[in-house]
Amino acid sequence: MKQVILTGDRPTGCLHLGHFIGSLQNRVRLQHEYQQFIMIANWQALTDNAENPDKVKNNVLEVACDYLAVGIDPQVSTIFIQSEIPEIAELTGYYMNLVTLARLERNPTVKNEMQQKGYGNNVPAGFLAYPVSQAADITAFKAQIVPAGEDQLPIIEQTNEIIRKFNTLYGNILPETKVLLSSVARLPGIDGKTKMSKSLGNAIFLSDGSDIVRQKIMMMYTDPNHLKVSDPGQVEGNTVFAYLDAFDADKQKVFELKEHYKRGGLGDVALKKYLFEVIENILAPIRKRRLELTKNTDEVLNILHKGSLQAKEVAATTLKEVKSAMGLSYF
Ligand code: TRP
Repeated sequence: MKQVILTGDRPTGCLHLGHFIGSLQNRVRLQHEYQQFIMIANWQALTDNAENPDKVKNNVLEVACDYLAVGIDPQVSTIFIQSEIPEIAELTGYYMNLVTLARLERNPTVKNEMQQKGYGNNVPAGFLAYPVSQAADITAFKAQIVPAGEDQLPIIEQTNEIIRKFNTLYGNILPETKVLLSSVARLPGIDGKTKMSKSLGNAIFLSDGSDIVRQKIMMMYTDPNHLKVSDPGQVEGNTVFAYLDAFDADKQKVFELKEHYKRGGLGDVALKKYLFEVIENILAPIRKRRLELTKNTDEVLNILHKGSLQAKEVAATTLKEVKSAMGLSYF
């Protein structure tokens, strides 16, 4: 039997090149080696979007289109909607008793996000506790591998603490899990900031049209001291080269461009035009498939429905085992 992996995204916006490099490419590859469940985490998205239900609702479909457009194959991967699996909510309730408030407040990933959002003490309880529901996501499928970025490490650590506590109290039911880190370091935003992110407004989305992609690349942060074409330019910290490293399969060509840039005589505009070609080669077919999918939302919904039914079956089996171990099966 293939090992189970679980991954997912919060549907708070369309997916971008950072997702593509950090996780989507990985998932397309991994789906053949593992039994892969991909969750659209709409419940988790609501933990900091209670007042924006429409945003979450609409982005469930957008994210599903992104998944399918990049080549996640619903015949081999199970794509599902978190809120369709109430078993996850029930597990979360039980796990909530295995975690202290102090431990929740210590989670570095959550702390970071709370700071970004300026929550202070007014954090929604559900947001503070989302690592508990994430432990439920993972254990519902007994997933032993979670492909994710570094920011997810503290959450997985907390998941394993819950698993160990559960197993100690109720018997060895839940397998521990581990992160499979993506091999590509995080992609900077077009402004050169360390991370591409929708909220920072520095992202190139898979759904962006060709003209928008060109505009964004032409705005990209390079070397601020590279004023004249003939000037020697700096490659380190230059966003265009970070993208070429990430997306151009022709490593020799990238090496030569870097040498040329350092020597002087290679202008930013020419370099960006080349990057645009490289990115367009990747995005054009994705965009085309995505457009077809958005014209056929019934089919996308059908895929999500089927996936959710499959996922529910697996989660229900785990929940039954969990309840029985906890002495909660009476009839
Ligand atoms: N926390 C993840 C994110 O913010 C989304 C997520 C929810 C997830 N449940 C998960 C990822 C389970 C992996 C496994 O992107």
